[in-house]
Amino acid sequence: MKRIAVLTSGGDAPGMNAAIRAVVRSGIDRGWEVLGVRHGFAGLIADNFIPLGAREVGGIMQRGGTMLGSARCSEFETEDGQSKALRQLHQRDIDALVVIGGNGSQTGAHALSQADFPVVGVASTIDNDLYGSEITIGVDTALNIALEAIDRLKITASSHQRAFLVEVMGRHCGYLALIAGITGGAEAVVIPESEMNPETVAAELRHAYERGKPHALVVVAEGCQYNAERLARHFEENRERLGFDLRVTKLGHVQRGGTPGAFDRLLATRLGVAATDYLAQGDRGVLVGWQRGDVATTPLTEVVTCEKQLDLRLLEMAGVLAK
Ligand code: F6P
Repeated sequence: MKRIAVLTSGGDAPGMNAAIRAVVRSGIDRGWEVLGVRHGFAGLIADNFIPLGAREVGGIMQRGGTMLGSARCSEFETEDGQSKALRQLHQRDIDALVVIGGNGSQTGAHALSQADFPVVGVASTIDNDLYGSEITIGVDTALNIALEAIDRLKITASSHQRAFLVEVMGRHCGYLALIAGITGGAEAVVIPESEMNPETVAAELRHAYERGKPHALVVVAEGCQYNAERLARHFEENRERLGFDLRVTKLGHVQRGGTPGAFDRLLATRLGVAATDYLAQGDRGVLVGWQRGDVATTPLTEVVTCEKQLDLRLLEMAGVLAK
């Protein structure tokens, strides 16, 4: 192994820069040359590479986002796009590629691996919906951003006795909403894995006031059938009958743009270093993730075919603690 490349793809996640830094510096330590690919798989197709030395990745660990840029690249989903990318990798004499990202990115990594190119994935997405890693880079920081918002909303909610709704990201997965709801002490949590209709949400909020709570706050995952928009419409249309107002806050991309905390910096660093360790020992076609308190690999074939399950006992617990 002489030369490797690293890219970040899909939605950026706080901690991606720490992972890039770890791949670059541990790769250099092994005597390898490391190239960065700008803007994910799109940069691979467009031959957009930059040399990365130890100094180029200095001062990036504390920055959110990704210094390499990221993209969602539909061209790479085609055979033609993948062939172009492979051609660039071969032309530049690159021996292996590290792909830092979530589900879509690891599907791309798997495609290159199926074409016999040595690839190692690094688990990174704020959604925490990636099979093969109990926790992924960016989740902790995104959760803390959601929590800060929830804590603040509860203060104003208590002053006015109003019902509040906070929508968090997560695509089709309710992990962020569930954990933000539990740790933020929400009165109700609505996730795609256990949908709730608007009348039940209204009942939960009303019961909170009836129990003497000074606030009533529901956390909703964006992937729900009744997301913030639909719930808000229902509450507005039925304002008189329901008897209270609902104030809606949609956190959206605010959650992705945070300064990575210590947990994400360390997780990203450990996974990034492990990626070059695994490449050096000849592992290919695997995702480097976090399992049972340590780094671990899962074949990319499994990662792209298996679905990560949410522990629904936590939802039950959230209900008990909201009393
Ligand atoms: O996968 C990360 C994520 O932030 C999801 O939570 C969200 O649904 C999606 O990306 C948003 O994608 P985009 O930034 O392309 O709008």
